Amino acid sequence: MTVPGYRNVPAQEWDPAAPADPAEAEEFLRLCYTEVSRLGPVEPRLAVVRAQIAATGTYVHTTDELVWGARVAWRNASRCIGRLYWRSLTVLDRRRVHTADEIFRLLVRHLQVAGGGSAIRPVISIFAPARPGRPYARVWNEQLIRYAGYRTEEGVVGDPRYVPFTDAMRAMGWPGRGGPFDVLPIVVEVPGESPRLFELPEKAVVEVPIAHPELGWFERLGLRWHAVPAISNMRLRIGGVDYPLAPFNGWYMGTEIGARNLADPDRYNLLPVVAHGLGLDTSHEATLWRDRALVELNRAVLWSFHRAGMKISDHHTESERFLAHMRNEEKAGRPVPADWTWIVPPMSGGATPVFHRYYHEADQRPNFYLDSEAAALARGAGVRPALAAAPLAA
Ligand code: ARG
Repeated sequence: MTVPGYRNVPAQEWDPAAPADPAEAEEFLRLCYTEVSRLGPVEPRLAVVRAQIAATGTYVHTTDELVWGARVAWRNASRCIGRLYWRSLTVLDRRRVHTADEIFRLLVRHLQVAGGGSAIRPVISIFAPARPGRPYARVWNEQLIRYAGYRTEEGVVGDPRYVPFTDAMRAMGWPGRGGPFDVLPIVVEVPGESPRLFELPEKAVVEVPIAHPELGWFERLGLRWHAVPAISNMRLRIGGVDYPLAPFNGWYMGTEIGARNLADPDRYNLLPVVAHGLGLDTSHEATLWRDRALVELNRAVLWSFHRAGMKISDHHTESERFLAHMRNEEKAGRPVPADWTWIVPPMSGGATPVFHRYYHEADQRPNFYLDSEAAALARGAGVRPALAAAPLAA
């Protein structure tokens, strides 16, 4: 079985010139007005929407439709293990905002609403929808907060994943400090203007220094990670209307940092470093030095977030919550689309209950999609020589 969006089968290409599909609009509105009974009968609304699409090629969501659509898009996100709390998503309606300065100001606001204190809240900021055939505002970055990667003679300093994007930023005038955890600037591109770079203010970036509960040397590795993962280049599609700029965040599951970002060979690649600190025999694989280093690195991440009073969850707890979510949804008579290859945590898979079963694979809408063009921009593909002189904003 091949389902778009599963196991590297590309999702359907988005055609930004196509008008809103009345059938998809109707399907969404029927779902929304059934699930949110206080919205009343759907028929009058359907008539209005059909007429709007016929006249303009698209239609405008009410606030209730927007909020419910965003929450259901999360509920349908088959790769997300954290969906138990889908109803609690805070939706910031930013549809009236169009200038780069205003967009950036509200991205900063998003990060403050999401992680101002230690209680991280799931938040989405929804900017203007794309109108068929017209240019739209976007952010190039994959996430609002990410670390630069610099190629040097001694190898990469920082996050190797962002070396091309960092090169693009430097070509656009960003100096870069050459450190291992330099927060990248945000690139906002609005129609009719060159893309602009903005530096996030300190107050918007909460970071946690990583130390270990028992191993004193761990802190001297100088590791840290940002507290809020905020995906900023996925398109939100609700009822046939596309929102290309709709950054959203949850809180971290420890393994995303400890078993991927800091551990993957093509990211910070720290397992050999941690194994060395632990004095492990790395001369052959059967000593399981990688596994032992992985456990201590992940303990350090979880312990450090807890010490900082910052919200994070572990993969055992999050797996239990996901099964609770599945039970809730089954009670409500809804299938739960899920991608095993993403749901199962990247360490100790078989020690979590989500490993021991199969899931329903389906592309249910509303949903979030990563377009290939957006993915390319996040890899630095947007820089043409003419842009190299774009000024750096504060
Ligand atoms: N895995 C990504 C990262 O390490 C974040 C993806 C979203 N994660 C989340 N907990 N909402 O930055």
